[in-house]
Amino acid sequence: MRAHARWPRRRPLRTRLALACTAAVALVALGVSAAAFSIVRYELEHQLDLHLTQQATLLQQQYRDQGPQVVYGECNYLAAPACTQIVPADPGKDPAQPYLLPVTPATRQVAARQRAGYFTDIVIGGHPARMLTTPMTAAPAGARQAVQVALRADTVREGVQQAGELMAAVAAAGVLLAAALGYAVARTGLAPVTRLTRTAERIAATRDAGLRIELPPGRREDELTRLAGSFNTMLGELEQSVAAQRRLVADASHELRTPLTALRTNAELLSRADRLTESQRDRAAAALRRQLREVTGLVNDLIELARDEEPQPLLEQVRLGALVTHCVEAARDHWPAVGFTLEEQAGERGVPGVPARLARLVSNLLDNAAKFSPPGGQVEVWLTAGLELTVRDHGPGIAPEDLPYVFDRFYRASAARALPGSGLGLAMARQIARAHGASLTAEAAPGGGALFRLRFPG
Ligand SMILES: Nc1ncnc2c1ncn2[C@@H]1O[C@H](COP(=O)(O)OP(=O)(O)O)[C@@H](O)[C@H]1O
Ligand SMILES: [Mg+2]
Repeated sequence: MRAHARWPRRRPLRTRLALACTAAVALVALGVSAAAFSIVRYELEHQLDLHLTQQATLLQQQYRDQGPQVVYGECNYLAAPACTQIVPADPGKDPAQPYLLPVTPATRQVAARQRAGYFTDIVIGGHPARMLTTPMTAAPAGARQAVQVALRADTVREGVQQAGELMAAVAAAGVLLAAALGYAVARTGLAPVTRLTRTAERIAATRDAGLRIELPPGRREDELTRLAGSFNTMLGELEQSVAAQRRLVADASHELRTPLTALRTNAELLSRADRLTESQRDRAAAALRRQLREVTGLVNDLIELARDEEPQPLLEQVRLGALVTHCVEAARDHWPAVGFTLEEQAGERGVPGVPARLARLVSNLLDNAAKFSPPGGQVEVWLTAGLELTVRDHGPGIAPEDLPYVFDRFYRASAARALPGSGLGLAMARQIARAHGASLTAEAAPGGGALFRLRFPG
């Protein structure tokens, strides 16, 4: 059923290509044959006409030298030398014998100098012949005559016919060759497309993004290879994204297990509240609330993290100065024990972005800084005109061995495990930064503490 359904879809392109190639090559073969034929025919006929002109000139010469005794030629066999006759303009002066070559009013006109000489195709004694009628210039003044010269044209006709047959055979062979070539070209030319189609169909059927199109060995850079290459790149990205999503789901369910177990324990504990003392009940309720908050935060972070690129319509010019000021004020409210300082360089331009997401990024950095600050510590925030935001705290800083991993999902340095958090904040922050084309890096601040640097492209 599938193979049956595939045919009508694949056939037209190949057939169309084969037909187009055949038509093009056949047209060239026919054109070249036709041109060659006309040239050969023209040359052969031209030769004959030249020959006739020569004969006529010769005749005039003889007439001039020897007088008008060569009035009639030998026309019986009509072979070389030419058959000739002289025709006066006035029919009254015609000789007694009948003319051997056809005499028409046009002949008389040429004799009377009323018209230029001309060539005609005639038939004499069943043979094709060519005749030149031209004024007799050698005749004495007043004797207005035309001279007619005829030559047999059999050989020329045969030659033309032979050339015609030969060229027709060449053209036919050309068309056959064209058909074969067209088929071959369509076949080899479309082979990569066939491969591409087959791979695409297999992927659609198996949903296996790990499949790739085989590229021909040796880097041939044609459009199809490039197409296959970009198709493979696309597949690679798809595979990566699928793997990333799977990893996220696996990590998330793993990370959710511990807080959910704790939640359940506390919930079960509270379901037997009648057997607990007042303080035990309060403690369990407080723990339950805290754990619920944590799970809610975790789930929110996960949702945020699983989001794709920014949808284009939400993009707007964001003024970073205002956004950071707002975030710092919110952090001051949230962390009253920590001091925040903000230094802003004037002349800042806007960046294209989604304000809510950028605010989330900045808040994450500020929350981390405050969370790891000692009581009464200072968090310093700088925003430079070069579109660089740095957040620096005076906490324990990040150990060099943790530095490469702090942006990984669920990664928390062992020193941080005692503090609330999920380890998703920085992963999300970096994802938001990347979606905005910005870079987010962490480093050890000179003199202790951590320093995060968010840099937008200039
Ligand atoms: N300002 C900071 N000072 C020291 N360590 C930090 C700081 N910010 C982040 N880290 C380290 O990076 C880890 C990941 O941070 P984050 O993704 O925000 O997770 P969370 O805040 O939930 O622990 C933290 O657990 C901590 O080990
Ligand atoms: Mg955090």
